[in-house]
Amino acid sequence: MARILITSALPYINGIKHLGNLVGSQLPADLYARYCRLRGHEVMFICATDEHGTPAELAAAKAGKPVAEYCAEMHDVQAELAAGFELSFDHFGRSSSPQNHKLTQHLAGKLAEAGLIEEVSEKQVYSKADGRFLPDRYIEGTCPNCGYDKARGDQCEHCTKQLDPTDLINPRSAISGSTDLEIRETKHLFLKQSLMRDKLNAWIDSKTDWPVLTTSIAKKWLNDGDGLQDRGITRDLDWGIPVKKGDEDWPGMEGKVFYVWFDAPIEYIAATWEWADAHGYPNSAWERWWRTDKGADNVRYVQFMGKDNVPFHTLSFPATLMGSGEPWKLVDYIKSFNYLNYDGGQFSTSQGRGVFMDQALEILPADYWRWWLLSHAPENSDSEFTWENFQTSVNKDLADVLGNFVSRVTKFCRSKFGEEVPAGGRYGAAEEALIADLTARIGEYETLMDAMEVRKSATELRAIWAAGNEYLQNAAPWSVFKDDPDHAAAIIRLMLNLIRVYAALSAPFIPEAAAKILAALNSEDDAWPDDLEAALEVLKPGHRFEVPEVLFAKISDEDREGWQAKFAGQRG
Ligand code: MF3
Ligand code: ZN
Repeated sequence: MARILITSALPYINGIKHLGNLVGSQLPADLYARYCRLRGHEVMFICATDEHGTPAELAAAKAGKPVAEYCAEMHDVQAELAAGFELSFDHFGRSSSPQNHKLTQHLAGKLAEAGLIEEVSEKQVYSKADGRFLPDRYIEGTCPNCGYDKARGDQCEHCTKQLDPTDLINPRSAISGSTDLEIRETKHLFLKQSLMRDKLNAWIDSKTDWPVLTTSIAKKWLNDGDGLQDRGITRDLDWGIPVKKGDEDWPGMEGKVFYVWFDAPIEYIAATWEWADAHGYPNSAWERWWRTDKGADNVRYVQFMGKDNVPFHTLSFPATLMGSGEPWKLVDYIKSFNYLNYDGGQFSTSQGRGVFMDQALEILPADYWRWWLLSHAPENSDSEFTWENFQTSVNKDLADVLGNFVSRVTKFCRSKFGEEVPAGGRYGAAEEALIADLTARIGEYETLMDAMEVRKSATELRAIWAAGNEYLQNAAPWSVFKDDPDHAAAIIRLMLNLIRVYAALSAPFIPEAAAKILAALNSEDDAWPDDLEAALEVLKPGHRFEVPEVLFAKISDEDREGWQAKFAGQRG
C-alpha cells in the first residue's frame, strides 16, 4: 500500500466551469483517485476554488456583489456541481482561507530570508477617480490595431492582439469610466526565479518518466531566450492575501496583495490543512502529506492540469517551495491535458459557448458525461465534443454493451431461476477461456490506469465489458437451458458474478452506475478483483438480487437534435 497525494488544478471562482475545464483536470484526477483507493492505497485528493485576482473582482462586479460574498456563493455552487459529478475530493477548499493566508505569507517571508525576493519600483497607471492603481485588464480604450473601442489593457478581445495599457487610444478606467489617469511609481516584490534556474533544471532532468508534453513546456520556459524571468508576485488590488513577511508587516507593501498565481498553488497545501482543521485533526495530519521531514518522503504526489498550467507547476510553484529552504514535498508526476473543443470551435467561458457543468447535469446523469469525457480525454492532442459522437458513445458503450449485458443476465435469471443466484452445474472450457481472457485484460487495464492513460484505460474497460457480452452470446444460456438447465445455471451464476466484478472495475469511470449495480446485486463488496477466479465466486448460490432499473437510457435522435439546437448559441 502506497500513500498517494493527488491535486487537481484549482478552478477559477469566476463562474461555472464548462466540460472542457472539467476534463482537463478535476475529472481525470477523480478517476485516478478512485482507482488508487480501490487498489488499496491511502489517498489524499485535494481541490479548491482559486479565488483571487482580477477575474474574481471583475466577476463579482458583474454580478453586482461584494467580492467576498460572490466568492463564498460561487464556491458553494462549484462544490455542489463537483458533488453532482461525483468528484470524490477529500477536501474542496478555498484559496481565500485563513490557512492559505498564513501559509502564503509564511512562504513569502522564507523566500525573503533566503534572499530570493527583490523590491522593484515600477510605473503603473493610477486612477484618481477610483483612488487606486489599475491592473492592465481594468484599463479600456480603443485598440490601435483594429479600432475596437472596448479593448483591454492586456489584450484586444476583438483582434486578439496582446497589448500594453499604454498602447490604448483614449484609455479609461474600466471601473468608473474615468479618463483622469496618470502614471505613478509603485513598488512590487519580485521572486528571483532566475537564481534557481540550475536547481530547477536539474530537478526537471531527474523526472525521466514525465510525459513529453509536460517536460517540453517546462524546458522551453527554462531555456528559451532570457531563460527563467524573475516574476512579480504582488499586485495593487483590494481582494487577495495581504503582503506580509510571515506575521510581520512588509514596509512599503501596505495595501498590496500577493499575485493570484503566487497564492493559488500554495492552496494545495493549505487545503490539506483546511481538511485537517475541518476534521479536528492536529497539524501532523496534513504535514505528513506535505513535509518530507514529517512523513511525506514516502508520499507519491501527482498533479492534474491543463497544458496552460504547466509552467506554473513545473517552475514557479517548485521555485517557491525549493526557495523557502524548508522540506516541502515536490510533485512527482504531472499529468497534463490538451484542450477539448466544442462542436467546431472552442469552449469559452467569456462567450458562454459550449456545455457548462450545471447544464450538463440538468439533461443527463453524471456517468454519461464522465464516460464520454474520459473516453475522449484530450491526451495526445486536442479533442472535440460533438453531439453525434456523444450520442454514439453513450448508446453503444453504455447502453448496448454494459447496460444491455446487466439487463439480459438479470432478467434471464429472474425468468428461469428467480431473483437469486442459481446453484448447480460446472464451468467448462468456454468459461475457463473467458476467465483467462478477462484476467489478461484486467492486468492490462491496471497497467494503463497506473500509467494514467485515460483513453486507453477506457478502451480496455469497454473491451472487458464486450468480452462478457460476446461470451454470453456464444454460451447462449437461453438455448442451453432447454436441454441442460444445470449448465445454464452455471453460466448465469458466472455472469451475475461478472456483473459484480464489472461494477468494481467500472466504478472509477461511472461511480453512480457501479453503485446501482451493487445495490441491485444486494452486495457491498466492491473490492478490486485481484484474484479474478475468487472474485467470480463472491455471490454464492441462493444469494438474492433484484433486476436493476435501466442503467443507461439511450439518447434518441430527437434528444440529440434538441440539445444541439439548445446549446448552439450563447449561454443566457
Ligand atoms: N485557476 C487556474 C486555471 O484555471 C489554475 C490554478 S492551479 C493552481 O487555469 F495550482 F495554481 F491553483
Ligand atoms: Zn483589436
